[in-house]
Amino acid sequence: MRWLPVVKTENGESSIQERSSEGSRIGEGLLTEGSCDELAASPGSEMIGGAPLDRRVYFEVFGCQMNKLDAELMLGVLNEDGYELTDDPRDAGVILYNTCAIREQAENRVFSKLGNLKGLKDARPDLVIGMLGCGAQNHQHDIFRRYPHVGIVCGPGEFLRLPQLIDQAREEGQVAALDLDKPVRFARTKNLGPRPHHAFVSVMRGCDMACTYCVVPTTRGGEVSRPVSEIIEEADALVASGVKEITLLGQTVNSYGKRLAPGRRIGLQHVLCGLNQLDGLERIHFITSHPRFMNRELVEAMGDLDRVCEYLPLPVQSGSDDVLRRMLRSYTMKHYRKVIDDCRQLVPGIALATDFIVGFCGETEAEFAETVKLLEEVRFNGAYIFKYSERPGTPAAEFADDVPEEVKRERNQVLLEIQRRISQELNSESIGQETEVLVEGVSKKDKTRWSGRNRKHQIVVFPIQGDENLVGQLVNVKVRDVTSVVLVGERPGEES
Ligand code: 5AD
Ligand code: SF4
Repeated sequence: MRWLPVVKTENGESSIQERSSEGSRIGEGLLTEGSCDELAASPGSEMIGGAPLDRRVYFEVFGCQMNKLDAELMLGVLNEDGYELTDDPRDAGVILYNTCAIREQAENRVFSKLGNLKGLKDARPDLVIGMLGCGAQNHQHDIFRRYPHVGIVCGPGEFLRLPQLIDQAREEGQVAALDLDKPVRFARTKNLGPRPHHAFVSVMRGCDMACTYCVVPTTRGGEVSRPVSEIIEEADALVASGVKEITLLGQTVNSYGKRLAPGRRIGLQHVLCGLNQLDGLERIHFITSHPRFMNRELVEAMGDLDRVCEYLPLPVQSGSDDVLRRMLRSYTMKHYRKVIDDCRQLVPGIALATDFIVGFCGETEAEFAETVKLLEEVRFNGAYIFKYSERPGTPAAEFADDVPEEVKRERNQVLLEIQRRISQELNSESIGQETEVLVEGVSKKDKTRWSGRNRKHQIVVFPIQGDENLVGQLVNVKVRDVTSVVLVGERPGEES
């Protein structure tokens, strides 16, 4: 049986570049929306997959790639314990939400969904409802009080105990698991993601940085790197099972290796080098890098290793040194610009992406203008733009959140507009050229087209011919037309 975790990615973000290719988001289309009071009115629905009700799980994932990988690991342990996934909460004995705490909006959405589950729980007292992940860690003290129908609160450090936690919740009513210091098993035995040819592989967990706006160090704890050999072993097994593309994951992925081997400098470049030798692995990505840890060895490895793709997301957050200082980002604009120059020099044709936060505490017009200047100068291929959202318990929650919502919205729009224009211009440079596409599936927006990505992570769509199945294959596509988010083309020889 193939697991299809039901995933809802955050839409609180403004992005002119989708985080994942259209048509490839995990489980999209399986998501059941609507009030669970309504759902409670139609009990006794049919079983899916043959497992008894108490072994059927409805699962939703919110937030980042890390959360999706965690969801895969969770589903793996549940699967080993005889649980099966259902796409309908009415058919589930267990409802789990793997949650995100990074912005208030993401949390509020989960809270509203949790509230809606009360009717279902009243109608079916045996139902176990669990709030998992960063949101659970962040609100550990008030979830049971606000939502007494919730049975499990489990942080990102303990999710591998889920089968036991479900049993415990059934016996005791409520159980909390919030230890962040327990060793976490990283590896999974098989690729449980939705795309058989793509897998995420975790190289580290947690974050040692202390960006003042960010809740992650609290919800995920300090940084722990996995040994290189373990990562290569897992990747090797995934490639043997048909995976062609691997995305390495870490909160600050390029600080990988810290504390691994005292006296020796192990870095992400060693992992990349090992992976580059795996026969059958076509593409390697790594997310998300921190500007402070971008070193020459790593950039050189990107340039030298043929499987490592020419694509680097490098969140800058702001173009103003003063704002960066208040954010405790630990680099300056001078350093950031030098990193960008090195990347462009050593990795020809590299596509760069970034994240910005607008309206951070005290951000003046002049400071915002420096961000605009950076955006115009660097010409990123893609950017995610977020309005600052105060997170209780973070250092910045002590500062005044004094940029009015209206101004945050305007600044968000200004950056979006500029980025849209730049992305369109950069994408236009591909017109008339051939690009190698790893096909991910049928385009969601146009069922007559395949959709995939090229090595620069640009979405490429092209016509489906007959009953061919190209999913997971590498094909060349000649680009005919572009928008700010997608390249449209056809295979050479099939031009109309
Ligand atoms: N408010 C707004 N955006 C945030 N991010 C992290 N914390 C916050 C916050 N409190 C953004 C950063 C980060 C991305 C994953 O989320 O830009 O790079
Ligand atoms: Fe949060 Fe900063 Fe760590 Fe990124 S580097 S996860 S923004 S604390």
